[in-house]
Amino acid sequence: AGDRVVTENPTYANALDALRHARLRTGSIAVSDTGWDMEIAESTLRQTAPRLAYVIPDFHNPTGALMPEEERLRLLAATRRTGTWLVVDETIADIALDVPAPAPLASLAPRGGADHVVTIGSLSKTHWGGLRVGWVRATAKMITELTAVRVCADMTGSVLDQLVALPLLHGMERTLPARLAELRSRRAALVDSLQRHTPEWSWRIPPGGLSLWVDLGEPVSSALSERAAAAGVHIGRGARFGVDPGTFEHRLRIPYTLPADRLDEGVRRLATAFHDGVPLPPSVDRPYWVA
Ligand SMILES: Cc1ncc(COP(=O)(O)O)c(C=O)c1O
Repeated sequence: AGDRVVTENPTYANALDALRHARLRTGSIAVSDTGWDMEIAESTLRQTAPRLAYVIPDFHNPTGALMPEEERLRLLAATRRTGTWLVVDETIADIALDVPAPAPLASLAPRGGADHVVTIGSLSKTHWGGLRVGWVRATAKMITELTAVRVCADMTGSVLDQLVALPLLHGMERTLPARLAELRSRRAALVDSLQRHTPEWSWRIPPGGLSLWVDLGEPVSSALSERAAAAGVHIGRGARFGVDPGTFEHRLRIPYTLPADRLDEGVRRLATAFHDGVPLPPSVDRPYWVA
């Protein structure tokens, strides 16, 4: 508790919650759908020497950005210099839709140069989220320490889930291409729906991952997601992914994981909520709102 950590901003909302729950102080590295500002990241790391940095270099959630190899090397070097644990979340790495799946970040380090890297991943994106099987790759010492901590939390992972996961992992070369093809077609369907229902919104098509980081053009995301929820559409408002409260109010994360007809109906309802004539109040109940 009280230690300084650094995450990307925006980042995976549940990771932010976990860090806050552990009462860690969160600094941030800016990332957008065009990528990371590595110079600022390096100076943030240099100036704050955080205990831990949490990053999602592969089809980053929520922006979809993919970190170039040269920046991965810089991140490895910068965190090594400051003695920072680099936690690399590769949960989305296999959802490579338009590019080859990136090599694990730790594999870029020279021999012995990735001792400070902890890589985490899971089966939730390649298979399904209800299968609670994930993994950690780190030094043997770190794994031993984590195993001891795990015993205090929930003892161990479900053996049944792991038995189910095994043939899924073995069959991945066969099943993954079909999953990726399905996601490509759902991404195209979402883009088509957005173009028809909300042409004033903008987005970049990410090279992989599961969602679009849509720019609404106005800071109304929280109000819109509340209104959409009343119409049966549950959607990640931008602020949910921000390190600081009330930021990213002009962004909405729209996943393309549903079948095309359901995506279209969802976007239609979102568009109705957005266009229904009553101006959306910019984040009414959020005192920290920043334009
Ligand atoms: C970057 C990232 N890490 C981890 C997770 C959670 O994975 P799991 O459901 O396997 O715990 C997600 C799910 O959205 C994610 O986007």
